Parts: sequence; C-alpha cells; structure tokens
Amino acid sequence: MKKYLITLAVITLLSNNALANTDLPDKQAELPAYAKTEESEHLIPRNLNTIPDTPFGDKVKQGYSLFVNSQTMQGKYVGNQQNCVNCHMQAGMKANSAPLWAAFMAYPAYRSKNDKVNTYAERIQGCFTYSMNGSAPATDSPELIALSAYSYWLAMGGLLDKYGMKDTPIPELSDAAVQLGGNDDSFVLPIEMMKDLPAGKRGFLAGRSFPKLDKPKQAPSIERGEIVYNTTCASCHGANGEGIKEHGVQYFPPLWGKNSFNWGAGMHRINTAAFFIYENMPLGKSVQISKQEAWDVAAFMNSHERPQDPRFKGDLKANQDKYHNHQGYYGKEVNGEVLGANSF
Ligand code: HEC
Ligand code: HEC
Repeated sequence: MKKYLITLAVITLLSNNALANTDLPDKQAELPAYAKTEESEHLIPRNLNTIPDTPFGDKVKQGYSLFVNSQTMQGKYVGNQQNCVNCHMQAGMKANSAPLWAAFMAYPAYRSKNDKVNTYAERIQGCFTYSMNGSAPATDSPELIALSAYSYWLAMGGLLDKYGMKDTPIPELSDAAVQLGGNDDSFVLPIEMMKDLPAGKRGFLAGRSFPKLDKPKQAPSIERGEIVYNTTCASCHGANGEGIKEHGVQYFPPLWGKNSFNWGAGMHRINTAAFFIYENMPLGKSVQISKQEAWDVAAFMNSHERPQDPRFKGDLKANQDKYHNHQGYYGKEVNGEVLGANSF
C-alpha cells in the first residue's frame, strides 16, 4: 500500500515538472500547490448514477434521498429543520465532514455515550435522537436499512476502486449485514484489502470524522466569537442563528434555537463544533477562518438555547453531571441565563 502511494506521489511530482517545463510567454510563475497527502488517500465513492436498478439499488437510492432531504421524515422521525447532509456534507461523501463511507467501516463498535457495542444502524439512531431532535426509526425499519445500505454502497465502491477493482460490481448485501456495519468478521473483504483492514480495525480510514485541532492559544471566547459570527456566518445562518427559510424550505440550517440540533448532539460540544467549522465553514470558502476564530465562533454558537437534551428527566444539574462532562455550556450560566433551563 505504502509503495503504491509513493509511486503516486512520484508520478504527481513528475507531471508537475512536466507542466513547469512548458514554455510560457511571460515570466509569471505558477503558484506552488502542495498535495494534501491525507486527502489523496481518502476513499472516493463511485458515481451515484452507477447505483444499479435492482431492489438493493433502490434501497441505496432511498438512503441517499433520506440523507439529503431528511425533512421528508419531519414529524415522524425528525423534530427540527435539519437534514443529515447539513453536517455530513456532500451527501455524506465529504472527507473530514464525518463521511458515511468511513463511518460504515467503523461499526459495530463500542460507544461510551450509551455504554455498549453499537451496530451501524444504532449509531445512526443516535443522530436521529440528538442531531435531528427526533425519535429514531427502528433498526430494521426501511429508513434505517436504506440509510445503512447507502453508506455501505459509498464505502464499498470507494474501497474497490482504491484497491484497483474498478470493474468489480459492488456486492449486494442483506438487510441484516448493512445494519450491522463493516467492522465485523462476518463482513468479508476481498483478500487484497484484508491485510490493511482486518475486522475490528476498520475505524481509521483517512478522512473520518472532523480533523482535530490543538487546544487554542486563548480560551474560546463567546465575545470574540460573536464578532466572527456577525462578519462571517450571519449572512447565511441568520442574525439569530435561525438560518434561512423560504417557501417552507430551510436552505441554510439553523445553528441554535428550536429548529436546531439539541443539547445531546455532538455538535453542541465546543470542540466538535470548532473542528467541523474550521474544516467546513464558511460554506464554499473553507478553510478561511483561523483556528482561534473557529474555537471562538463555536463557543458563541453553542452559548445559545436549543432543544432540551432528551435524556433530561427534570433535574438540570443531575443531567449535567451525568452527561455533560465535556466542553459545553449546558447547565452553565452565560450572560445571566442558565443554559438548558429554558430549552425548547
Ligand atoms: C447537527 C449536525 C448533524 C446532523 C444534522 C446529523 N449528524 Fe450525524 N453526526 C454529527 C456529529 C457531530 C457526529 C460525530 C459525533 C460525536 O463526535 O459525538 C455524527 C456522527 C454520525 C455518524 C457516525 C460517524 C462515525 O464516523 O462514526 C453517522 C453514521 C451519522 N452521524 C449519521 C447521520 C445521519 C444518518 C443523520 C440524519 C438522520 C445525521 N447523522 C445527522 C452531526 C450531525
Ligand atoms: C455561504 C453560506 C454559509 C456561510 C457564510 C456559513 N455557512 Fe455554515 N452552513 C451553510 C450550509 C448551506 C450548511 C449546510 C451544509 C449542507 O447541507 O451541505 C451549513 C452548515 C453549518 C453547520 C452544521 C450544523 C447544522 O446545524 O446544520 C454549522 C455548525 C455551521 N454551518 C456553522 C457556520 C459558521 C460558524 C459559519 C461562520 C464561520 C458558517 N457556518 C458560515 C452555509 C453557510
């Protein structure tokens, strides 16, 4: 594998030189461009128009639709104005935006959040409960099977292509297998991949999750973050974090308030939000803000009320002690208001 990558790097270098050698009419030099090495290792899913017209392919397509237009589940499984794609960008394909292809290969896995081994479908349920502020469909529901099948399809196509099997069709899996996820002995990969990706060790594909930032030089500041927000974010996410909604369609997602993710969602943590924001926002211009600004604006965003943590049983302090030992403002006082006390 290493050797393959080195060969690639050499080819890239050679072709850059070839470009530099062509005679140009003036002396203007091309700007140096450096390969983002981790990027070139990321899986690239197959083109969506190659999803087959089979019953299995139909599940994959349905999964794609539910993922980008989750509002079709509004009132049933979704309780806010978010779509999955708002945080897992480019239909769940964007590296460093918690892509589905990396996620699928990482489950089943132990999660401390619910203290048990989670299957892939169970992990998705978590995002329904918290990020979508809804009530999750059952693991064997058509919705979760579709979302899992779609994730599998992205992962498997990317893997086959990466290992030189571009002509190999993506094997169709049973409903039970897609719900479980790819990190299990029962999920057999072609022999060429097994050395790099033994079962139990598939959770580390490059581009998974959001790239971690070091602790900021200065502690995250809500005040500084407000300035970043007003100058860099409010044009799309609204003066009050409400996003932009027109003709009943939420074009730009709300970042706080009753239509946003709730106090149990990963994005309410300042660090998780800073990682996401630094890599992915402002939309179309990432990476543009400094790391410090990402931390500050994450603090500002998450210092506002949002829907209650669904684990809340009436005692804010008890809920805070039990579930909020991390970087966040739940149960803390900001500008004279205790957050979580007036949740939606
Ligand atoms: C508000 C942002 C947000 C929305 C909306 C959202 N998610 Fe997530 N999702 C996250 C974050 C943040 C994480 C990582 C969780 C953490 O660090 O606690 C995550 C994790 C995941 C993972 C596991 C990723 C991994 O690599 O382990 C999957 C799968 C997933 N989400 C699927 C979904 C699906 C399906 C939907 C829609 C039903 C959805 N998410 C909606 C923010 C979101
Ligand atoms: C040009 C418009 C635009 C700007 C400017 C912008 N965003 Fe976004 N933002 C979006 C869109 C659109 C999405 C949803 C992405 C998608 O669906 O592909 C999003 C998603 C998000 C999310 C995901 C969480 C959620 O609840 O959906 C966060 C957090 C976020 N933006 C924060 C910021 C911050 C902080 C800034 C300023 C530094 C910013 N954005 C600037 C358009 C923008």
